[in-house]
Amino acid sequence: LRAWRGLIEEYRDRLPVTTTTPVVTLLEGGTPLVPARRVSALTGCEVYLKVEGLNPTGSFKDRGMTVAISKALEEGAKAVICASTGNTSASAAAYAVRAGLTCAVLVPRGKIAMGKLAQALVHGARLLQVDGSFDDCLEMTCKLAENYPIALVNSVNPHRLQGQKTAAFEIVDALGDAPDVHCIPVGNAGNISAYWMGYREYAESSAATHTPRMLGFQAKGAAPIVDGAPVTHPQTIATAIRIGNPASWHLAEAARDESGGDIQAVTDRQIAAAYKLLAQEEGVFVELASATSVAGLLQAHEQGLVRPGQRVVCTVTGNGLKDPDWAISGAPTPLTIPVDAFAAAAALELA
Ligand code: F0G
Repeated sequence: LRAWRGLIEEYRDRLPVTTTTPVVTLLEGGTPLVPARRVSALTGCEVYLKVEGLNPTGSFKDRGMTVAISKALEEGAKAVICASTGNTSASAAAYAVRAGLTCAVLVPRGKIAMGKLAQALVHGARLLQVDGSFDDCLEMTCKLAENYPIALVNSVNPHRLQGQKTAAFEIVDALGDAPDVHCIPVGNAGNISAYWMGYREYAESSAATHTPRMLGFQAKGAAPIVDGAPVTHPQTIATAIRIGNPASWHLAEAARDESGGDIQAVTDRQIAAAYKLLAQEEGVFVELASATSVAGLLQAHEQGLVRPGQRVVCTVTGNGLKDPDWAISGAPTPLTIPVDAFAAAAALELA
């Protein structure tokens, strides 16, 4: 068994790096493609979960960040900045540490999960909470990167998508070919665009015989691409994708149209149900935004958009531990008992 070397080393010939690029890595990528037995039974499809919560900082953002931060270092940056609903900031903060760069992050106040805030702070990022939305934060961040010597590492930085496309490579490498359908959450719309780029590249070089249909899913209260217009006050329990004006809007539409796919909305209720299903029937703990892909697949199945026997991959983008508040708020309060094995047996109804 050969040790995984991080995605820049694994896919070097397909990434914008040279022998002189300083590789900043936490050995991201190489995440498991887990068969989803319950979701497969519900849909009649052969469903797999690409479990991106097992990346070093707990989300797919690390794939983009290893490339973006390596290139920033190569280009002589001393500091990096991003806007974030949480995961990008956690990842940027960690990779900046690795690179010896200063990291600044702007997040919408009160709208990011506790674990993500903790990560950015522990890694020593300069974190500012903005009294506004993610879209406001991104606009501010772009202005700052234009006017000050600080490199932007949001997904408008093309190196981010380059790194993120490697998830599609891994899926094809694991399955031996592309799946028929790929389901993915859509927020700022970078990831769906990156996967599509990866699948296309592999098909063009004959590493895959075809490309999948891309099915993207936004949360109903934050579904600008579905609505066809920006959403000024996006609302959803899935804070990671609470985004009203995605930066990669047009790339996502291209992924949808070129792949013969679709971008749809799912309700918070559907997202919460898929979150619970993944945790309680698949044993996979994801964050709410990540469950959107599975909520979406179940909806697509009801609409007849997927056929029995088709191979479907759902990307689950982030780790459930990111958002302990949501996890605990939906769970029953544990019983408290004395130090007494019989009391435990009674409480557990063992007798
Ligand atoms: N899932 C999770 C867990 C996310 O954190 C994000 C985006 C998405 C899905 C959507 O991906 O933006 O490429 O369409 N989070 C960004 C952030 C916006 O700041 O962490 P996308």
